[in-house]
Amino acid sequence: MGLFITFEGSEGSGKSTQTRALYERLHAENYPVILVREPGGTRIGDMIRRIVLDLQHTEMDATTETFLFSAARAQLVNEVIRPYLAQGGIVICDRYADSTYAYQGYGLGRDLNELKTLTAIATGGLRPDVSVYLDISADAGLERKQRRKNGALPQGVEWNRLDAREVAYHRRVADGYRTLINEDHERWFVCDAAQSIDTIAAAIYQHMSPFVAHIQKLDASGR
Ligand SMILES: Nc1ncnc2c1ncn2[C@@H]1O[C@H](COP(=O)(O)OP(=O)(O)O)[C@@H](O)[C@H]1O
Ligand SMILES: [Mg+2]
Repeated sequence: MGLFITFEGSEGSGKSTQTRALYERLHAENYPVILVREPGGTRIGDMIRRIVLDLQHTEMDATTETFLFSAARAQLVNEVIRPYLAQGGIVICDRYADSTYAYQGYGLGRDLNELKTLTAIATGGLRPDVSVYLDISADAGLERKQRRKNGALPQGVEWNRLDAREVAYHRRVADGYRTLINEDHERWFVCDAAQSIDTIAAAIYQHMSPFVAHIQKLDASGR
């Protein structure tokens, strides 16, 4: 039932750009599709997002952070993702459980088995059908974001508490993603995120075509 697509990658790798592009294209082709992001995507999740990403929350405990992400994910899965998949729709999600493993696990050194248990509780075991990894060096990604931060930040681009962590942490995250991909390579589509926006969007769209083939398009009335 439905199709669950997630996007992963370092900050600045182009997830917001590419999830939007894929959403627009599938939407234009009359597929039932929604785009959500983590943390957030629900009223309650957006409130959690503000707590987690607030630059002033320097005292946030790593366990607190992990639980807040999981809480936002539980809300998103149960309120939005599962119901939409059950109707046969396509859900595109900007970050999902792999972000927990990469950032809290490999980045902050939390126990991966504990994180997997917590994630299974939060998601009820819902896993993506296909995941896109936007592959950019941690330095290049941060550079992209930092450049925006130092100029006037355009709408939709944010510089948050997690971006502000040190470069070594972001390198551990990138290495963590590599490990996750190697462990489950059939699910992943890895893109060189240094290519142009249009080149990447075309490659992702092409990769998705066999997956969307079984999704029933909306009729003229919208369903
Ligand atoms: N392929 C690309 N080449 C150059 N700049 C890009 C590319 N993709 C995204 N950008 C720019 O890099 C910045 C970060 O992109 P964004 O989509 O917000 O990344 P993310 O959501 O992964 O943090 C934005 O200013 C965006 O316009
Ligand atoms: Mg983004």
